[in-house]
Amino acid sequence: MNEIVLNHPLITHKLAILRDVNTGTKEFRELVTEISTLLCYEATKDAKLEEAEIETPLAKMKTGKLNEDNYAVVPILRAGMGMVEGIINVIPNAKVGHIGLYRNEETFEPVEYYYKMPDGIGDRIAMIIDPMLATGGSVSATIDKLKADGVKQIKFLCIVAAPEGIRALEANHPDVQIYCATVDEHLNPNAYIVPGLGDAGDRIYGTK
Ligand code: PRP
Ligand code: URA
Repeated sequence: MNEIVLNHPLITHKLAILRDVNTGTKEFRELVTEISTLLCYEATKDAKLEEAEIETPLAKMKTGKLNEDNYAVVPILRAGMGMVEGIINVIPNAKVGHIGLYRNEETFEPVEYYYKMPDGIGDRIAMIIDPMLATGGSVSATIDKLKADGVKQIKFLCIVAAPEGIRALEANHPDVQIYCATVDEHLNPNAYIVPGLGDAGDRIYGTK
């Protein structure tokens, strides 16, 4: 099992508001940001720190620091952009690479329209972010591209995952750790997550 599910009362509470059809764009965006920060907290639990010597007002001490430059945050456009702020709130010096994908409405296959990664992407830890893991097609295609660019360490952070998407991702890329706020019941015939939260991109950008 490659998925870590954030079972926590704060997450359940925030998801309840996020999912609600009556929640407006402003609050939806704020919640996506907050949940993304909590996902990032979990996804960096195994981070390697570099030794650092600092001086407090009282004494010198040895401690550890994160080399933020080791990280590349990779939002899958569009909806993934809504999660960027939540990550860079806590890793402000992470580089950001973008991949543009949309799902073909009939086949549900991802169609790529943009790809731009920071220099030296192969040596960075890539944190792919997208609120929704449905069939798993979009994130699998993103991982294919990153691996072709030499990326060796990849984590995927999402808010709502479908069991079908988790299974597909584990089959395609068993080395990628999945962090999700919740796992829902199933996909409907249109490959939407049930109960889910609807179309994440439309709710973030107010396009419906
Ligand atoms: C949504 C979502 C994921 C994808 C998930 O994006 O943000 O990228 O669908 O589905 P999958 O796991 O079946 O690939 P969408 O294609 O609606 O594009 P958008 O972000 O531009 O709205
Ligand atoms: N994309 C979304 O935005 N929502 C879903 O439920 C599935 C794919």
